[in-house]
Amino acid sequence: MTFPKNTPKFTRGELNVYRRPTEVSQVTAALRGVGRNVALVPTMGALHDGHRELIRRAKRLPNTVVAVSIFVNPLQFGEGEDFDAYPRSLDQDLDTLRELGVELVFVPEVEDLYGESGVAVTLDPGPLGAELEGEMRPGHFGGMLTVVAKLLNIARPHYAFFGEKDYQQLVLVKRMVADLNMETRIVGVPTVREDDGLALSSRNAYLSEEDRRSAAVLSTALGMGVNAGADGAEAVLEAARRELAAHPEIEIEYLELRGTDLGPAPVDGEARLLIAARLGRTRLIDNTPVPLGAAAAGLGDDQDEAEHDDVAGDDGRNAAPAGTTPSQQGY
Ligand code: PAJ
Repeated sequence: MTFPKNTPKFTRGELNVYRRPTEVSQVTAALRGVGRNVALVPTMGALHDGHRELIRRAKRLPNTVVAVSIFVNPLQFGEGEDFDAYPRSLDQDLDTLRELGVELVFVPEVEDLYGESGVAVTLDPGPLGAELEGEMRPGHFGGMLTVVAKLLNIARPHYAFFGEKDYQQLVLVKRMVADLNMETRIVGVPTVREDDGLALSSRNAYLSEEDRRSAAVLSTALGMGVNAGADGAEAVLEAARRELAAHPEIEIEYLELRGTDLGPAPVDGEARLLIAARLGRTRLIDNTPVPLGAAAAGLGDDQDEAEHDDVAGDDGRNAAPAGTTPSQQGY
């Protein structure tokens, strides 16, 4: 089987770099035509081990071309946010993708995706788009969903991989795909952390040495919350708050316990503890699964993360188990 005439050049087993949406659409259509699956990993570049884990998961799928997009999306940055300062390291990122055996990378410029005059039609994330991160960053999720919808429409992937690190993003992307009848299967991947528990993030590069040391407290506090899960929601929040109170240099924006769909937390069963904080001028977010009540003792029937459609398999390496101390669970 060969590609239709006029399909842009694609060399199997090598990293093929495209800047134009039409090139990616034609190549991915041709790949689907010869029976290969397409898995998309959307990123803003400055690739770290969290991104690498998404790619490694995607690569586990059989007969699949892994496509990565690198695009710092202006539409999801608010006024006064770090769009201009956001780390950009394209050459290094391309080397990383080659090392990982990625075959397709999409690297559009702003005008390739938004034209000269920008887009007039954008997506509305609904009520959840104004809560948690959405309350702190108005317009962020509308801009994020708009670019993700564009990427899914351009590449029409069978699968797209997103990190649990940005849990609200993952929930909203799943909701968009369900509500708008998109065909891509969204796969969530557990958060990859540093040895002291800090969740990997491109923005960690902004931290001073001193702030970097303090930053681990976020994940320690989440771990303390997990440990209190058997005693219920209030105990979880109290345990996390107690840990944070010892670190006045960390300014908490929110600490909330929610259901896995980010609705109200259940009394008993799987919940999600989410935090956002400022350390100096750097904003950090983190979250963890928290089994509550009987579920925390392993008695619930709602314990697994079936919700996350982890088709590529979860060996549990990065997940935060209940009832362990932060150091035991690699927090
Ligand atoms: P970016 O911040 O580059 O993240 C790309 C993907 O990597 C996201 O799905 C994010 O959740 C995941 N990721 C980041 N840190 C991670 C970690 N420590 N462990 C596991 N996964 C991690 O998120 C975005 O870009 C953008 O909003 C995007 C989806 C590309 C749309 O512009």
